[in-house]
Amino acid sequence: MIFLGIDIGTSGTKTLAIDANGKILASDIQEYCCFAPKPLWSEQEPDDWWNATVKTVHNVLKKARLKPKDVKAIGLSGQMHGSVFLDKNDKVIRRAILWNDQRTVKECQEIETSVGGREELIRLVANPALTGFTAPKILWLRNNEPKHFEKLRKVLLPKDEIRRRLTGEYATEVSDAGGMLLLDISRRNWSTQLLSALQLDIDLLGRVYESEDVTGKLTSRAAKQLGLTTDCLVVGGAGDCAAGAIGNGIVNEGILSTSIGTSGVMFVYSDEIKIDPLGRVHTFCHAVRGKWHLMGVNLSSGGSLQWFRNALCSELIVEAKRKKADVYDLLTAEAEKTPPGSEGLYFLPYLSGERTPHADPFARGCFVGLTLAHRRSHLVRSIMEGVTFSMRDSLEIFQGLGIPVGQIRASGGGSKSLFWRQIQADVFGQRVVTINTEEGPAFGVALLAAVGAGAFKNIQEACNAVIKVVKETKPKPAAKKVYDRAMPVYQGLYRSLKDDFKKL
Ligand code: XUL
Repeated sequence: MIFLGIDIGTSGTKTLAIDANGKILASDIQEYCCFAPKPLWSEQEPDDWWNATVKTVHNVLKKARLKPKDVKAIGLSGQMHGSVFLDKNDKVIRRAILWNDQRTVKECQEIETSVGGREELIRLVANPALTGFTAPKILWLRNNEPKHFEKLRKVLLPKDEIRRRLTGEYATEVSDAGGMLLLDISRRNWSTQLLSALQLDIDLLGRVYESEDVTGKLTSRAAKQLGLTTDCLVVGGAGDCAAGAIGNGIVNEGILSTSIGTSGVMFVYSDEIKIDPLGRVHTFCHAVRGKWHLMGVNLSSGGSLQWFRNALCSELIVEAKRKKADVYDLLTAEAEKTPPGSEGLYFLPYLSGERTPHADPFARGCFVGLTLAHRRSHLVRSIMEGVTFSMRDSLEIFQGLGIPVGQIRASGGGSKSLFWRQIQADVFGQRVVTINTEEGPAFGVALLAAVGAGAFKNIQEACNAVIKVVKETKPKPAAKKVYDRAMPVYQGLYRSLKDDFKKL
């Protein structure tokens, strides 16, 4: 029995195949582009996702030498919050608007006003209105492209549009649906109260499933296109954050994952629904049946270091090429020579504004505390420290809500370096572990497909069978002391600067 995980990411689609023991047999990625027709807009063509899906499935079947009937089930993952607008013939009305699009500031205010304020909105859907979420995008279409809105019959998330093309069903699942800002997170179904306040028809939305439930089978057309059979099941799957967390084994109370990619995600499991009344972290349904999770998102995490490399390290990039080395390894080797705390230098990682804990599109990146003694190595270390302080902001909010955090699992490109994992352990004041796989969301939803097809009793059993802790980094008491003293200074800098950020 073989299971496929398909992740409709922002830079490309990744498909991988696993066997019934969770062993990865093959994977493939096909990239596509993003369109930015105006500043702060971000759009993609659903046809590009579909073409990449078909191609990656073909390539995986070929690489792993699979026969059509071997594949029992597919799990879908994808970038969250995006909006695919469909007309009555299921034609895409306009390009999809993505999670990182910032055009909906007005519509976010409109949503809060429609329900009588931010607190009431958080009571209804557990989260405040953020520009990236889906509901404000639907209102934007109504306010700005009324001709398109007139034709609108369905709004689907990116992976759910792929599900429609695979199975003919309009369906979603709880973990991704929460990010539309239209789901009653505690009841795990659409909020009829919010929909009516916004004058949106519930028929615009797909049916909501739990993540491991079967949502349909391949249509004969899709089976033919993919080279699979009509017996192949498609399970709910998950939004990419929950899917990545499943791939990291975040399926029991007390476990948190950190992920340092372009953006950074702090993801913690919760048996009960817990909501931050201030709306600083997101509360969504987990892809584990009947469970929840909280999540803090930092928009420029590894992206801060990437910016530094691209903007200021052209000579080092040439040197790295000559030495056949990775430029990040060279930067890390420099940073290792500086002491914890970067000799009083602080970095605020708000290069693209911020989401957690300050939902502030005006926030900006800064180095604060530069002296003549500081070298490039200090700048690099302070970037890693600043990004990790921003992750500790989320950790402190989770802990303040009474969520136990016994184990921290580090993942993503940034966590590959022992140096950055050590900074994480020292800043969090807790052990940081890594696990045996680094396959991300596609792996998580392949496991959900295996559960949906009956290969495992539940997702906990699947994760316990295949995911193992392999490395551990302990905090160093002296560095922890430095960071405990630095953290309130870091937090105070945003408070001091936030009004000036608006003037910039
Ligand atoms: C999560 C979020 C991103 C997208 C893109 O809230 O906006 O992580 O899912 O991957």
